[in-house]
Amino acid sequence: MELVAEPIEAYLRNLVGSKHAAQDAMEALAQERDFPIVGPCVGSLLEVLAKSIDARRVLELGSGFGYSAFWFARGMPKDGEIIHTDLDAENRQSAQGFLRDAGFADLMTYAQGNALEVLAQTDGPFDLIFCDIDKIDYPKVPDLALGKLRSGGMLIFDNTLWSGRVLDQDKDADTQAIIDLTQSLYARTDVTNTLLPLRDGVLISLKH
Ligand SMILES: C[S@@+](CC[C@H](N)C(=O)[O-])C[C@H]1O[C@@H](n2cnc3c(N)ncnc32)[C@H](O)[C@@H]1O
Repeated sequence: MELVAEPIEAYLRNLVGSKHAAQDAMEALAQERDFPIVGPCVGSLLEVLAKSIDARRVLELGSGFGYSAFWFARGMPKDGEIIHTDLDAENRQSAQGFLRDAGFADLMTYAQGNALEVLAQTDGPFDLIFCDIDKIDYPKVPDLALGKLRSGGMLIFDNTLWSGRVLDQDKDADTQAIIDLTQSLYARTDVTNTLLPLRDGVLISLKH
């Protein structure tokens, strides 16, 4: 299911435009490999959100080759920190190159291994935690993450409409995991939630 009509998507993409050659190179690589980056519309949202809460410390769960980190970095001060996590060492190496080219090397810390283990083992507080790992693991994240967010911090999940599959009668395990995650956050009293139907759905939980 197309969540946002393609002409509107194109209009939004054109508004964001190109901010840096590294952005263009990452978008080209994503297209070439059919790799799921957040894209410029969600990217610019991440930049605005980071800036709006004066984020200085961001943990990314599932960073790929650095595209979403590029957008967070644009919304952060030069002495901030973004922790990049990815299971794939080649993605990490590519991210190092792209983010260095973009001028963000000093913000970046590269953590090895499973993002959930990195999350469990890394001390907070964080201003913002962004989750884009395998969807089956989404329900595990709030209990691990919310205690490490500062008050007023944000926990953000990508793909929370999952191309509309959240409406399927017969839901596969990934879809059910996204629904379980979403319902668990909406049932909590210590966060305020909004789910934006932008690209593939972005769920933002603001910690009280
Ligand atoms: C959707 S892509 C990330 C895209 C990235 N956030 C962006 O927009 O540029 C998901 C990435 O998460 C990684 N991944 C999936 N599950 C993971 C896990 N449990 N721990 C660490 N990385 C994981 C995959 O290797 C993949 O590169």
